[in-house]
Amino acid sequence: MNGIFRTKPISMLLDETKGNQGLKKALGAFDLTLLGIGCIIGTGIFVLTGVAAATLSGPALVISFVLSGLACVFAALCYAEFASMVPVAGSAYTYGYAGLGEIWGWIIGWDLILEYAVGIATVAIGWSGYVVNLLNNVGIHLPTALTLSPFDKGGIINIPAMLIIGLIAWLLISGVKNTSGLNSVIVIIKVAVVLLFIVLAVWHVKPGNWVPFMPFGFNGVVSGAAVVFFSYIGFDAVSTAAEETRNPQKNMPKGIIYSLLICTVLYIIVSGILTGIVKYTAYNTPAGKAAPVAYALDQIGIHWGSALVSVGAICGITSVCLVLMYGQSRIFFAMARDGLIPKFLGSVDQKHQTPKISTIIVAVACAITAGLFPIGLVSELVSIGTLFAFIIVCAGVIVLRYKRKDLKRSFKAPLFPWVPILGIISCAYLITGLKPATWIRFVVWFVLGLIVYFAYSRTHSELYLSEKTGSKGQAS
Ligand code: ALA
Repeated sequence: MNGIFRTKPISMLLDETKGNQGLKKALGAFDLTLLGIGCIIGTGIFVLTGVAAATLSGPALVISFVLSGLACVFAALCYAEFASMVPVAGSAYTYGYAGLGEIWGWIIGWDLILEYAVGIATVAIGWSGYVVNLLNNVGIHLPTALTLSPFDKGGIINIPAMLIIGLIAWLLISGVKNTSGLNSVIVIIKVAVVLLFIVLAVWHVKPGNWVPFMPFGFNGVVSGAAVVFFSYIGFDAVSTAAEETRNPQKNMPKGIIYSLLICTVLYIIVSGILTGIVKYTAYNTPAGKAAPVAYALDQIGIHWGSALVSVGAICGITSVCLVLMYGQSRIFFAMARDGLIPKFLGSVDQKHQTPKISTIIVAVACAITAGLFPIGLVSELVSIGTLFAFIIVCAGVIVLRYKRKDLKRSFKAPLFPWVPILGIISCAYLITGLKPATWIRFVVWFVLGLIVYFAYSRTHSELYLSEKTGSKGQAS
């Protein structure tokens, strides 16, 4: 067990980022907020709301969004404290390694693979649903067998989901520079279609549709909250841009918190309207589950609005996929640099200066997952992985307030220790709403991670190797 709690010195982290000093420190709180929204609004609100409304929450979908939004606010405040303390690129993985020790860093990193890589597969399946629905509406019918997973009725493989992953990987490998400008445009489109939906649909709300409010009981509402939790994931991606941010200690907490708050408000309004304009049972149809926001507008006869929302959703979901794949390669890069995973996973292609090998591996694994599994299964796996990472981050804030009083924090989670404690409790509560099969899959993933750590990472860690050579040097 020796050494598994060694921490990576923050001075070392800052040294490693010196090579990036050429990066323009151009991003402010506003840009970071856009970056966060770019990664948050996607498959969750545009797709998963349908299944959640039809089978778990009913009209109480809005309560599900409030519950999971609350858990995210607590976690976001803790993320913001970490980001202000360790303002280097990376993510919870880096925070864990620097603050809590190697094994915790590893567990978070292993967990983030679920968040990012399986997240990419989930988002791609959502993308496919919208594309197929839009094509259906214009009279182009792709064969069901090629657009759904073998677990869905009539499906064999989801080809569109695999194709979008291939396309995004190609974009990233060929070195798309300055994605932040593109991201801003897409964010504006995304927010515009969400607002368009609200403005078009709000007049068609019939309060009668909200009765019965909780057809599947409060347990259903909690399960619904655990499912729609997916739609909030992404505010943590703001922390990956630390090195390109002006005054990151101040601006990163703002970016994280503002992006989450804006999306929370939009989500609560949209979910209330979705179940107010048509009966929740209406979403229990193929189109209602695949593209519920567009479907709802179709149901009230606003077909042009439905088409516009679909196009906006497709653009928006594409950008989430891009940010997630980019984030995954950054995490692999950081873990490979620390020696916890093989170095080749972090290697950068000379010609394009992009992490070609890791992107290809991630893309192939994600494409297979997206082609063969249904959205419900993979999205729950992403949620449990992310919820667990949030719990560690919240616990980390508490531990470090006592253990590392020396670290400067320009942002502190308020009402300490209640905010991190409530973060832990609420995330754990949401986990109870997920399916037992998801818990089992997660435990298998977790145990696999520990096996990899003890069989490989612990003895290949750069810190371990430098300690070893250091002690040899002293002995000789
Ligand atoms: N929150 C992101 C989405 O819903 C991951 O697509």
